[in-house]
Amino acid sequence: MQPQGLERAKVAAARSYEVRANWKLVWENNRECWHCTVNHPQYVRANYDNAPIDDPALKREIEAQVRARSAHVEPDGLAIDHQAAGLVRFPSPGCWWSINRTPLVSGWVSESMDGRPVAPLMGAYRTRDVGTLRMRTMPNFWNHSSGDHSVSTRLAPAGPQKTLVQVQWLVHEDAVEGKDYTLDALLPFWQLTSEQDWDLCARNQAGVSSSAFTPGPYSTKREYNVIRYTEWYLREIALELTRLET
Ligand SMILES: [Fe+2]
Repeated sequence: MQPQGLERAKVAAARSYEVRANWKLVWENNRECWHCTVNHPQYVRANYDNAPIDDPALKREIEAQVRARSAHVEPDGLAIDHQAAGLVRFPSPGCWWSINRTPLVSGWVSESMDGRPVAPLMGAYRTRDVGTLRMRTMPNFWNHSSGDHSVSTRLAPAGPQKTLVQVQWLVHEDAVEGKDYTLDALLPFWQLTSEQDWDLCARNQAGVSSSAFTPGPYSTKREYNVIRYTEWYLREIALELTRLET
């Protein structure tokens, strides 16, 4: 995380949203990529998150990408891997954070609409081939960082069926808008992905609120981090109840 230079980065843009869904549904949506293929066309062009499970040819392609990109960044002390199709597991039940760096698809060096750079390199990076650095902290924050920009998302509960969301785009501290980057190139990838998700969450909330709704089980292959999240949440609630009783 340190080479990303986040502590001195510049906020290039921020967008605020009011999502018509409970904050827990917004978080759960972010913790799985089952929905990505049909809902995030730009995202799945850049990432392997939605890769079919148990596809040997794709597995070989991803492993080749990991080897090639690792060779570029290892001298700088960085590690790229592809655990769990990029959706790395939270380290243990009850753990509130996870972080990993995973490869973009071949030919992409940034989470931009065409995979090309949209800003100068951030922090201490010396190559654009750094994949994406990803962080999540329970219960309300995630970040995706390419070599040239970083996007943070924070949730704030605003009611049983309302969540306030802020998305921030960060770039190198010296980058100048209009000269080193443009918002037209910087924003669309994550603005689209975010807004597609907010629409899904609102529809999810409408479904959950329906008298016809019946809860079903989570997929252990595709929704293991949703499971980890609900475990974490129930554990926190139990701890809080214990605190209140004593
Ligand atoms: Fe999504």
